[in-house]
Amino acid sequence: MENTCVESTFTKRDVPFEMPLRPLSLNEFIGQLQVKEKLDVIIRAAKGRQEPLSHILLSGPPGLGKTTLAHILASEMGTNLVISSGPVIEKAGDLAGLLTNLKEGDVLFIDEIHRMNRSIEEYLYPAMEDFKLDLMIDSGPAARSIQVKLNHFTLVGATTRLGQISSPLRSRFGLNVKLDYYPADDLIDILERTSHLLNLKIDRNSIKCIASRSRGTPRIANNLLKWVRDFVMVKRSGVVDEEGVQQALNLLQIDEKGLDETDKRILRVLIEHHRGGPTGLNTIAASIGEEASTIEEVHEPYLIMQGFLNRTPRGREVTDLAYKHMRD
Ligand SMILES: Nc1ncnc2c1ncn2[C@@H]1O[C@H](COP(=O)(O)OP(=O)(O)OP(=O)(O)O)[C@@H](O)[C@H]1O
Ligand SMILES: [Mg+2]
Repeated sequence: MENTCVESTFTKRDVPFEMPLRPLSLNEFIGQLQVKEKLDVIIRAAKGRQEPLSHILLSGPPGLGKTTLAHILASEMGTNLVISSGPVIEKAGDLAGLLTNLKEGDVLFIDEIHRMNRSIEEYLYPAMEDFKLDLMIDSGPAARSIQVKLNHFTLVGATTRLGQISSPLRSRFGLNVKLDYYPADDLIDILERTSHLLNLKIDRNSIKCIASRSRGTPRIANNLLKWVRDFVMVKRSGVVDEEGVQQALNLLQIDEKGLDETDKRILRVLIEHHRGGPTGLNTIAASIGEEASTIEEVHEPYLIMQGFLNRTPRGREVTDLAYKHMRD
């Protein structure tokens, strides 16, 4: 990955940097007012009835705050958070192990839940609905099924691909919450908070400049801020000003709409080799040497949101706006 600091996917490298920046309560979580209001209602209702929270599905592009919200839900409820992820749960036994160890009220967070094996998913249905687990033990003629009672837990699922969640699974969540890209004003607030936490002096215009190039994504905003901090330290004796920010961001080849090299390559390949499309996703992926899933989850939603790309039944198509942007 060339531009690791604008990559919005969470990597191990981000852990020491992201953890201290995570808001710990719903109040501290900036923006997404509708989402916060919904969560506030079910948290308060569950607390009022002294019941565990109902199951919640969080969806949206990478870096918008799904994992952060899972942490917040557990801490607002005063319960444990147990973290797992779809691809890690390989066998029914893995899921059984997780579920049987949960205590009353615990929050089980399954990240990338769309990547969970369908056959394992079926064990989850009775667990979510009736807090019981039907397990097969032994095989062949000795096979028998036993039922295990589970404590009342809350499943919080996160996904970047809502469309890939089967409808039986989706319907078992009490609340389905979609996170959207953040408007610039919210990103400005997030950057102010982060610069405060990092003890970094930065003026309002510089913050605005970073916010406008952050693709509506808090993780990218924070990563760009960190990049700017490094850049000015090395190149400009530590002083952050608008010029320094521009230089730092230009070095990453992020343009004023927040498009990075890969976004631009997608648009360029469509315009220069496919007369603007429509072109299939796999063709685009092969032409630029990027995973189709990365294009679909990370780049496409932002290009569509910015009005540069349309998704049609026959493939992806660039818009007039994209032609104009790429010419300028
Ligand atoms: N509303 C917010 N206010 C302040 N900071 C935020 C907010 N949302 C996200 N962040 C910051 O952005 C970073 C990324 O958020 P998070 O890890 O929760 O994203 P995610 O949706 O789980 O991404 P992924 O799909 O890649 O797992 C966190 O470190 C957090 O500090
Ligand atoms: Mg996450």
